Amino acid sequence: MILAIETSCDDTCAAVLDGDRLLASVVSSQTLFHARYGGVVPEVASRHHLELINTVMDEALADAGVDLGRIGRVAVTTRPGLIGALLVGVATAKTVAFATGARLVAVSHLEGHVAANYLPPGAAEPPFLCLIASGGHTSLVYVEKDRSFRTVSQTLDDAAGEALDKGARLLGLDYPGGAALDALAASGDPGFASFPVGLDRPGNFNFSFSGVKTALYYYLRDAAPALARERRADIAASYQSAVISALVKKTVAAAESLSCGLVCLAGGVSANSLLRRRLRQQSEARGIDLRIPPPGLCTDNAAMIASAARFLPDLPYPERLSLGAQATGLPV
Ligand code: KG4
Ligand code: ZN
Repeated sequence: MILAIETSCDDTCAAVLDGDRLLASVVSSQTLFHARYGGVVPEVASRHHLELINTVMDEALADAGVDLGRIGRVAVTTRPGLIGALLVGVATAKTVAFATGARLVAVSHLEGHVAANYLPPGAAEPPFLCLIASGGHTSLVYVEKDRSFRTVSQTLDDAAGEALDKGARLLGLDYPGGAALDALAASGDPGFASFPVGLDRPGNFNFSFSGVKTALYYYLRDAAPALARERRADIAASYQSAVISALVKKTVAAAESLSCGLVCLAGGVSANSLLRRRLRQQSEARGIDLRIPPPGLCTDNAAMIASAARFLPDLPYPERLSLGAQATGLPV
């Protein structure tokens, strides 16, 4: 039985996994604390993790109906993320493992996002192509049969989630913007305005989102205020469509180029309704088997960290005593 802890950004998360049975997954969002600043304040995040982590862990164990004595392995996100936030999770995991004699497993946040796809329902078996699109990361990775990763392409500048969040902010939507933009765009016309799709050339699977963000900035600067106000949903839909088009086009094109019949989605942006819909349509039309985790497993959670840990080795003694965190580090 695995107890997993995830504190890489602004969600304090714990989960309990028994084999492939998810017994509990608790996510305590700090959104309200950061909203007044319009984004995540790292020091505020660390302090709230510290206040919340024990309660969140207790709640996950209570939901699962197990006590700490039954936990054989403790898994924790060690990279990449906000360093102070990560350290709260790492210190907690080391303490629990030391106190209970459980084994300790270090997990990359991005490996975790991909591993959400290993959980039922719809568990995927590698090899597959995976689009990882989150607030801090966007790439296409090929997951080999042994679950190791090969990076196929990545963003050259902003992450897709960052582009959605910053676009939402330009449109006057409250933080966190990605989901709010998705909701506003639902009632808009995506053909109302034309925004550029970055690196839109055949054979180029890399992403670029800085151009579309700048285009929205100039569009709103130059538009008549009344038009920008009245057609806000249409502008939101047009902007979101350009960002999502890049993700869909490149994912489908890379899958075809690699002759890969199984495609998975990972990361918070996979919760986006347009991405889910368009990628489903395109995949069906091409006979690609597409797997998308339920929205709660797409955004940050600890269930995905527990899932990844099933396929990772325990940290040996005494190295586990000096386990630390890394803000950046390797892409996965
Ligand atoms: O994976 P995640 O929860 O955290 C990071 O690892 O970054 O991803 C967060 C990103 C944010 O940029 C947020 O705007 C985006 O996921 N997101 C969404 C939706 N829900 C979360 N983007 C679009 N539509 C959504 N419904
Ligand atoms: Zn994430």
